[in-house]
Amino acid sequence: MCGIFGYMGPKQASPILVEGLRKLEYRGYDSSGIAIKNGDFKIYKKIGKVAELQSILPKQIPGNVGIAHTRWATHGGVTDPNAHPHLSENGKVVIVHNGIIENARIFRSILTRKGVVFHSETDSEVISHILEYELARDNSPTKALRRTLSKLVGTWGLCAIFLEHDVMVCARNGSPLIIGQGDGETFVSSDPHALSTHTQRVVFMEDGDIATLTHDNITMSNIHGHSLDTDVTILEEEWEEAVLGDFEHYMLKEIYEQPDALRQCINGRFDRVRGNGRLGGLKLTPLELSKLPHVRLLGCGTANHAAEIGGFLIESLARIPSFAHISSEFRTNEPVINPNALHFAVSQSGETADTLSAVKEILLKGGKVHGVINVVGSSIARLCGQGVYIHSGPEQAVASTKAFSNMVTALTIFAIQVGRSRTLSKEKGKEIIDNLQQLPHLIEEYLEHQGPIMEAVDLVKHAKCVLFLGRGISAPVAKEGALKLMEVAYIPCLAYPAGEMKHGPIALLEEGSPVIFVVPNDHVKEKSRSAIHECRARGAKIILIHEAGDDISGEGDINIPIPQVNNYLSPMLSVIPLQLIAYHTALALGCDVDRPRNLAKSVTVE
Ligand code: F6R
Repeated sequence: MCGIFGYMGPKQASPILVEGLRKLEYRGYDSSGIAIKNGDFKIYKKIGKVAELQSILPKQIPGNVGIAHTRWATHGGVTDPNAHPHLSENGKVVIVHNGIIENARIFRSILTRKGVVFHSETDSEVISHILEYELARDNSPTKALRRTLSKLVGTWGLCAIFLEHDVMVCARNGSPLIIGQGDGETFVSSDPHALSTHTQRVVFMEDGDIATLTHDNITMSNIHGHSLDTDVTILEEEWEEAVLGDFEHYMLKEIYEQPDALRQCINGRFDRVRGNGRLGGLKLTPLELSKLPHVRLLGCGTANHAAEIGGFLIESLARIPSFAHISSEFRTNEPVINPNALHFAVSQSGETADTLSAVKEILLKGGKVHGVINVVGSSIARLCGQGVYIHSGPEQAVASTKAFSNMVTALTIFAIQVGRSRTLSKEKGKEIIDNLQQLPHLIEEYLEHQGPIMEAVDLVKHAKCVLFLGRGISAPVAKEGALKLMEVAYIPCLAYPAGEMKHGPIALLEEGSPVIFVVPNDHVKEKSRSAIHECRARGAKIILIHEAGDDISGEGDINIPIPQVNNYLSPMLSVIPLQLIAYHTALALGCDVDRPRNLAKSVTVE
């Protein structure tokens, strides 16, 4: 998704900005640009990778103040002029903007009538022109920004610099922005991890905040003109810069990191003696837990699939009705919020706009939300103020892999903890905990013996459509497998609970159609066996993910064994061959596996 990086200080801004952009790359983008103040503004913009922007930059661009941007197109195609930064009519203001200005069209026509010439098709460009117009009124950048924002409808993470003023102004409304305070230098970024090599001292901007930066000072105020305290916090978790090491791609690296990521997630989070989870972030008393009417879990994409598995586990282990919702649907469908219920917001980035809005909706209606989040200090984590970090470490590939496993793991621990305060026995709690502790080894065992993944790749890589089926806890795993293959290899995929197959999708099957079945050795295995037979009878070729030594092995045309695993924990193992099939299929088709087309790592627009 769009990214912002800005710098003011004694050093040359250009290399710092380019490095900042490189750190934002993993979020997904289609063009990038920088503006450096030096007499006038030197602006360079280019579609494609940051490396392509670098290729057009002069060796040296003198200047100690600058802003930079990675753009993920929303309004206007992927072109050099549409890339940010955007310069104002008289060249006095330059801006970068994340978010969407909903009333930009009105301002475009007003400004065009006043003689302003637009150089891009973006909604963002209006901001630079309005800001310059407002600046002419009293020559105060902060007041001009405030007046500009009061005219705009939409969302913004916004940063502007001025030809005639040595300040940078920033504003946040629905799109993250973090200020960094160095020694005699200040930074701004849309992602805290792009700041961590420069400083640990940061100010997380909240919606409605305005920050006015000089090289050695940060002044906070809000859109209404009230001053605010500059609340400097120390970045809690410093992620080391992700490096590929011996791996060819981040996606493969992150698949292989799952055992260690899982160890990080479970470390110190069990009370084995009581067969209980020990998540300090579950801020409900045993009495409140015993009276929970229901649980709702919210997420998008992969996080939603993890939430579905979490809901299944909470209902099974804690005997509370639990439902997973797609965040974007939930928030617009006028949900009834029960203040006594438990809500979980599940998100790797902690910045997904749809999930953020759903959380706001729940809070507005008096509900409580716990976060299940990877990125420490992210907007959703801070808004929830309670919950659990999943500790996957940085996920660089756009396709989420290790975060999925850790979301499911964290929700499993929640399920045990909620369950223990209700009907789950100590013995059962202990049994699941023991099995969870074994899980990293089982994943390692599987990664050493992956089975005929490449045969599966040969079957799916030229398919018109691939059908993914699973039942019970494996139905969301099938969905996750379909999402992975679709997003990195661009193959149309359909995922269904296996029992639904005969109610429609079966019509797709013809001789040779690939169908991937996820069938661990659980109580619905025999039902899945029947579905396999129904597919085979119509000429489908079956790729079967099954437990090693199970009597169902052999039912597939291609059989991929995973180690035997506790029924409640099978998703963390059965998803891995699906991740590998997606990865190797994308490679076989020559796709950009870490940066799939059109996708962004963190989707900060609704
Ligand atoms: C799929 C993928 C997306 C994200 C979704 C939610 O591989 O990465 O579907 O899962 O955009 O993102 P987060 O978890 O950051 O809220």
